[in-house]
Amino acid sequence: MKNYTLVAPCFFGMEKILAREIKNLGFEIIKTEDGRITYKTDEDGIAKSNLWLRCAERVHLKVAEFEAKSFDDLYENTKRIDWSTYIPYGAEFPISKASSIKSKLHSTPDVQSIVKKAIVDSLKKKYMETGMLKEDKEKYPIFVFIHKDKVVITVDTTGDALHKRGYREKANKAPIRETLAAGLVYLTPWRPGRILVDPMCGSGTILIEAAMMGLNMAPGLNREFISEKWRTYDKKIWWEERKKAFEAIDESVKFKLRGYDIDPESVEIARENAEIAGVSDYIDFEVGDATKFESDDEYGFIITNPPYGERLEEKESIQLLYKELGYAFKRLNNWSYYLITSFEEFEYEFGREADRKRKLYNGMLKTYYYQYVGPRPPKAING
Ligand SMILES: C[S@@+](CC[C@H](N)C(=O)[O-])C[C@H]1O[C@@H](n2cnc3c(N)ncnc32)[C@H](O)[C@@H]1O
Repeated sequence: MKNYTLVAPCFFGMEKILAREIKNLGFEIIKTEDGRITYKTDEDGIAKSNLWLRCAERVHLKVAEFEAKSFDDLYENTKRIDWSTYIPYGAEFPISKASSIKSKLHSTPDVQSIVKKAIVDSLKKKYMETGMLKEDKEKYPIFVFIHKDKVVITVDTTGDALHKRGYREKANKAPIRETLAAGLVYLTPWRPGRILVDPMCGSGTILIEAAMMGLNMAPGLNREFISEKWRTYDKKIWWEERKKAFEAIDESVKFKLRGYDIDPESVEIARENAEIAGVSDYIDFEVGDATKFESDDEYGFIITNPPYGERLEEKESIQLLYKELGYAFKRLNNWSYYLITSFEEFEYEFGREADRKRKLYNGMLKTYYYQYVGPRPPKAING
């Protein structure tokens, strides 16, 4: 049976949550670095990781790691690899991305062309090809990552990034990434059966991710992955893992989530997205003002991604919004609430210091996830 070393990149701040997901799939973590996790799997690892990881941005197959302080080092070490075990005859292999941090080889376009040349030369020798290598079959995108002169070369097994689940055909102005939305839910003790509300739901991403988690629905079921077309990866594994993922959906779990937004168009978009995701029976979306949110229920959860007020002219209205949210949420009995924002003085405006706060990057934007943790319900309510 084959073993793979895979590398899963993620947003900064999400490493621990992603590591837990990887362990839960039964794989062994080798290394956790800022924004990426390296782990070992057996042969089903590529299919399982792509189908199931909610917080990873991609899944890469690690091919090599070596030191390179010159372009000669880079060329020789890359050419030495038997690329024919990864790239079959006729396949396309663009060097999709190169990045270099604190390293002698800092010109990434040069890194890309040297790596391309080395792989071409290695493959030509193996396939005894003297002319141009044909590249008209399935795709194996190559990624090169250099950090402190250490080069890691990988092949992307994912294609379109993992946050593209296939359900968000439309989005409102500032949608949160699906991978981050899933992470926000993971960082709370919410479980199906407990009340969950997003009172500023926009295109509905947080609730759709929560519903998929509640149903044990794999996030990758609605889409395809580039490695499904590979000749070098047994298609049977993909079929089996897809079948298992379908069978794993647990519709016996009963729960209903609630989403509100002040903007009717966003509510419409959220409904459509939930429909495409196959979770519309589990979420009610309504137009509503979060600052007027009230509930007679107890022990509920709010997870929300309010506007951040990034533009200067929005500052005053954001301060007012956060103040009003602070008043509204304080009236709720025994609730827990979780808000993500880049607004620096959020706690001051909201009127309460968070029990916990966690630094997370929403793309390149530094945000904090403010966590106000309410009491646990008595056993009977907890179900
Ligand atoms: C950053 S967006 C949320 C994006 C959402 N997480 C998504 O994935 O699309 C903030 C949302 O808050 C809504 N909003 C702003 N003020 C509101 C209020 N007082 N009540 C309800 N929604 C509000 C906006 O219409 C916008 O859709």
